[in-house]
Amino acid sequence: MEMDFENRILSPSEIPIDALGDDNPLRPKRLEDYIGQDKVKENLSVFIQAAVQRGEALDHVLLYGPPGLGKTTLAGIIANELGTNLRITSGPAIEKPGDLAAMLTSLNEGDVLFIDEIHRLSRAVEEILYPSMEDFAIDIVTGKGQMAASYHLPLQKFTLVGATTRAGQLTAPLRDRFGVILRLELYSPAELAQIVKRSAGILDMPIDDEGALEIASRSRGTPRIANRLLKRVRDFAQVISNGVINAESAKTALDKLEIDELGLDANDRRLLDALVRFYKGGPVGIETLAAAIGEEAVTIEDVYEPYLMQIGFLSRTPRGRCITAAGCKHMGYDFEGVTVASQPTLFDENI
Ligand code: ADE
Repeated sequence: MEMDFENRILSPSEIPIDALGDDNPLRPKRLEDYIGQDKVKENLSVFIQAAVQRGEALDHVLLYGPPGLGKTTLAGIIANELGTNLRITSGPAIEKPGDLAAMLTSLNEGDVLFIDEIHRLSRAVEEILYPSMEDFAIDIVTGKGQMAASYHLPLQKFTLVGATTRAGQLTAPLRDRFGVILRLELYSPAELAQIVKRSAGILDMPIDDEGALEIASRSRGTPRIANRLLKRVRDFAQVISNGVINAESAKTALDKLEIDELGLDANDRRLLDALVRFYKGGPVGIETLAAAIGEEAVTIEDVYEPYLMQIGFLSRTPRGRCITAAGCKHMGYDFEGVTVASQPTLFDENI
């Protein structure tokens, strides 16, 4: 029978922690360097210290929230703070139960296994994850008929860190097996400005407070976007300004990149525009809206809506999506004939 677990350990979907660090020097490695998400940080710090003091593996952790907020970064920090190894994989990368078994059996005590997009695990793989999380053992049946054999593989006590854009997409049995569930929120412009300044320091790029805030306020609450914009603004500042990022050079660069003062890009504007022009401002069902702008409903929900709701441009109502008066105004429409939501709603609980 085939038991090539060893060979699969080095599958390309896994990135060791050092590679993670090398690849992206902007990722903080310790909790104290991680900016924002104060509630998450506070609680996590207690859980990590308690586990270290007891000499035990940390309970399994589920991180959820919109993309780009630092879920992978946090998994790296958790492993660093615990002083253990990190293995990274993702739901779609684990094709067969054997792939997961290979990874699990290679973990040392206390190691962190990070599974990104954990809601996309197949049923068969999820089934072997349950006993792994709960009892630290897996039972695998190989072969068929006379050749069938079953293996009981004990595992080292490890910590699973799962990440998903929406906890509501997880099956209940999987969600129930996480002892710690943490929701990441969009960052404020002030927090993003701190991140931008830190990143600029690492990139050796001079920047002042106004320049950092200009980038931060156009980053849609998302560090990944802030760091990406910083790199592009750096290019403009280097070539057409005097190499310094300040309010003026940042504004010039961001205008050239066609990112408006609130960070809306062409896709956000397309969505708001469709809402007004095709549906009189709403309400319109998410699937209908998705079809109208040629996007997947989940992309709209996970990528566009959180920020549009945070800035009060879009509202989710029981009858569908509506643009708000502020959203209308930003898009340059007057309210005549447009049904606007009277009260912008902030985040829906996604769990
Ligand atoms: N880079 C990306 N996310 C970050 C965060 N939350 N703090 C500091 N640097 C970051």
